[in-house]
Amino acid sequence: MSSRTLNVTDRIYDYLTTHALRENDAQKRLRMETAKLPMARMQISPEQGQFMSLLVRLMGAKKTLEVGVFTGYSSLCIALALPEGGKHVACDVSEEWTSIGRRFWQEAGVASKIDLHLAPALPTLDALLANGEAGTFDFAFIDADKLGYDAYYECALKLVRPGGLIAIDNVLWGGSVADLSDQDADTRAIRELNDKIHQDPRVEMSLLPIGDGVTLALKR
Ligand SMILES: C[S@@+](CC[C@H](N)C(=O)[O-])C[C@H]1O[C@@H](n2cnc3c(N)ncnc32)[C@H](O)[C@@H]1O
Repeated sequence: MSSRTLNVTDRIYDYLTTHALRENDAQKRLRMETAKLPMARMQISPEQGQFMSLLVRLMGAKKTLEVGVFTGYSSLCIALALPEGGKHVACDVSEEWTSIGRRFWQEAGVASKIDLHLAPALPTLDALLANGEAGTFDFAFIDADKLGYDAYYECALKLVRPGGLIAIDNVLWGGSVADLSDQDADTRAIRELNDKIHQDPRVEMSLLPIGDGVTLALKR
C-alpha cells in the first residue's frame, strides 16, 4: 500500500490548496467566473495549472500549443510561464467560452502572447504543419474532444521538437478507463490512446494521477 498514490481526501486537498497553491488575482477571478457556468467541471484544477506552469518554465519553453481552451485557465497558466516574446497557440471552437478567457488574459498582461484559433483544432494543426512549423513547439497540452485525442497526439508529436513535451488531460477519465464494462466511445478513445502511448517508442512517458490523470510524453 505504501508505494501507491495517496488517497486525496477533502482534508488533504484543503491542505494542499492552502499551503502550496500560488495564483495571481486574474487566475483566481477567472476560476470564480468559470464556477458560475454549467460546464465548469471542464476546467483544469489550479494545482494542475501551477504544475504545467512549472513544466513550461523548467523547459525554458518559448512556443507552446494547446487544444481545448474553454474559459482560458490553462492558457493563462501556460502564458504566464512564457518569457516576453513567447507564443502560445491556443485552439478552440467556442467564441462564447474563450471570450471569457480573453478578458482575464488582458488583465494578466499575457494576451499578446496568446494566438487563439477559433476553429476545429485538426485543420488548425494541419495548417501549422503545412506552414513549416513541425518541430518548433516546446510544449503541447491536449484537452479537447476525446474522440479527437489520437489525431491531436499525432499532430502534436510532429509539431513539438525532440525533447519537447506533450501533456494529455483526462487520461483516467474519472476511473472509467479501468472499468472494461464501460464501452462508451470517449472512454474507449482514451483507453486506446493510453495503450498506444504506453508502447510508443517515439516518446518517454509517465501517467500522473493528478486531476483526472495527465500523461506526459517526451518526444525522443
Ligand atoms: C475540457 S475543455 C478545456 C478546458 C481548458 N483546458 C481549461 O483548463 O479550462 C474542452 C474544450 O475543447 C473544446 N473543443 C471541443 N471540440 C473541439 C474541436 N474539435 N476543436 C477545438 N476545440 C474543441 C471545447 O469547446 C472546450 O472548450
